[in-house]
Amino acid sequence: MAEELLISSSTNKEERYATLVPQIQALVTGESDLIANLSNIAAALKQSMNFFWVGFYIVKNDQLVLGPFQGPIACTRINFGKGVCGASWKEKKTILVPDVELFPGHIACSSASKSEIVLPAFKNDEVFLVLDVDSDALNDFDETDRKWLEELMRTIETLV
Ligand code: SME
Repeated sequence: MAEELLISSSTNKEERYATLVPQIQALVTGESDLIANLSNIAAALKQSMNFFWVGFYIVKNDQLVLGPFQGPIACTRINFGKGVCGASWKEKKTILVPDVELFPGHIACSSASKSEIVLPAFKNDEVFLVLDVDSDALNDFDETDRKWLEELMRTIETLV
């Protein structure tokens, strides 16, 4: 495993992800524990992309339960269909929210959070966790985030 994360000095999001994602793929190779891998993935995303909040909610029975994350403390449980995370689980798709105030039922874990992207990972066609990334700026996520983070979700799917 790499001792240190190489962080792109570029201000370009595409270039930062292009440097980061292959390193994450290498980082998780050879470690079989899901929580250990998700912990390092959350840390690498935070360190490299400087997200306000980044972390995982894991499906446990009929709820999403807070998993490894980086950032301020957060809500521990989210019901199916509730908030952006619950909606991503229910609809089985990535949800990009440019302004959380305009998303019906958004769960405000932090009042500083202004925009958000949530992506599901699947096992046997069922969602087993979601990745949630929050920004303290409006309209902070776009198709570049979707593309790279979806690629990361496909890597996470190989870990279970
Ligand atoms: N805003 C999310 C809840 C999780 S926190 O933002 C960390 C939602 O609406 O599902």
